[in-house]
Amino acid sequence: MGIILLPPPLEIDFPLSRAIRERRSIRSFKEDTLTLEEMATLLWAGQGITDERRKLRASPSAGALYPLTLYLVNHSGVFRYLPEKHALETVKRGDVRYKLCLAALGQPWVREAPCTIVIAGDVNITAKRYGDRAWRYVWIEVGHTAQNILLQAVALGLGGVPVGAFYDEKVHEVLNLPPNEDVLYLIPIGRPR
Ligand SMILES: Cc1cc2nc3c(=O)[nH]c(=O)nc-3n(C[C@H](O)[C@H](O)[C@H](O)COP(=O)(O)O)c2cc1C
Repeated sequence: MGIILLPPPLEIDFPLSRAIRERRSIRSFKEDTLTLEEMATLLWAGQGITDERRKLRASPSAGALYPLTLYLVNHSGVFRYLPEKHALETVKRGDVRYKLCLAALGQPWVREAPCTIVIAGDVNITAKRYGDRAWRYVWIEVGHTAQNILLQAVALGLGGVPVGAFYDEKVHEVLNLPPNEDVLYLIPIGRPR
């Protein structure tokens, strides 16, 4: 399926300390969709390339192995973020937000948010080097990535909520994820109402 090249991330002049202070879990959103620039900036903040030469990313990763993949879910479909291309790859067309909401115990903000960023991970990537410590490292990386996205959202005038309560298998199925990836976190994001 198609590849959508993303615009460069926006350079927002917003004090980090203010973003930390103002971040709150937002669960009520205006209906308008996010711009491609906003989505590109959020995805870049989570897993974008910040050192082109060494292919290092915005979030730290044990051994720079990068086991996480970000997915974007919006009214038009499900898309995989490709950091090295700074692009989206279409995984599934059509609005799955209602099904995703059901898979997340019916939490209404998952249906109402114009977009949800899903953090998925392949623990085998990290386990090849770190064995039994792999899950610990993957979970820590999820926290780094989610926080970057949540703080970037504040700096963009947006808001989000990290969602950990969902049925793993159901979300996996709704998003058509590959078998080697586990769903780890959902972050519905929009303009605060
Ligand atoms: C690991 C984790 C899982 C969470 N899961 C959910 C969730 O499923 N649904 C939800 O509405 N909020 C969820 N939250 C958000 C918390 O409820 C929220 O962070 C907490 O109430 C503190 O409020 P604040 O984020 O505005 O500071 C989760 C937070 C964390 C860290």
